[in-house]
Amino acid sequence: HPPRIPPPPPCHRRRRRRRRRRRASHGRPRACRPGSGKGTQCALLSRHFGMTHLSAGDLLREEVASGSDTGQSIERIITAGKIVPSDVTVGLLQAAMAGAPGPFLIDGFPRSLSNLHAFDEAVGRCAFMLFLELGEAEMESRLIKRGATSGRSDDNAETIRKRFRTFNADSMPVIEELQKLDAVRFVSADGSVEEVFQRVLAAFAGEPLSVV
Ligand code: C5P
Ligand code: MG
Repeated sequence: HPPRIPPPPPCHRRRRRRRRRRRASHGRPRACRPGSGKGTQCALLSRHFGMTHLSAGDLLREEVASGSDTGQSIERIITAGKIVPSDVTVGLLQAAMAGAPGPFLIDGFPRSLSNLHAFDEAVGRCAFMLFLELGEAEMESRLIKRGATSGRSDDNAETIRKRFRTFNADSMPVIEELQKLDAVRFVSADGSVEEVFQRVLAAFAGEPLSVV
């Protein structure tokens, strides 16, 4: 039967205030797709513009490493290549955002319409989504290569296939939804880290961010 994960404690009033403040002060660009190099590009971007980089996947893996009951449920979902319930992921993101200055670059989120709507409700709407485009064969070979040293339970051929399936079923609808609102920027993730980074920077042209 499905894992039961307790919801994070409610904090409605603080949440409202934070939402209003964040909406007014800055946007939150986002990036997602497994094996596309989003973690690498987000690290470079956040250093370039002085943004706080939050990785949904890393926050979930930290929760797993803590050994909590929630962490054990998360681990099963990650190994199955599925999406963790939105209240858990949004709760972790909110907690991380509360302890760091904006603007925020959120990596690997939202991965489902449920993720998108839960974040909209709890925090606010992102400025735009950065979508790193790469063929499945190239993504798979990057992930398999990473799997040799990452120690990640999901960097194996079987889970990678499931992650791709989940991406097409659950994450593509998010792209379609944000595309309707003209809030997706597509960048080819083919080529070297530096080549991709130059394209990523071009996608950020005109944003109210200063180079640090
Ligand atoms: O982004 P990353 O590849 O690190 O994500 C690893 C896994 O974490 C995903 O395949 C998924 O199981 C889980 N995840 C999630 N919801 C997110 C981001 C990641 O369930 N928003
Ligand atoms: Mg990552």
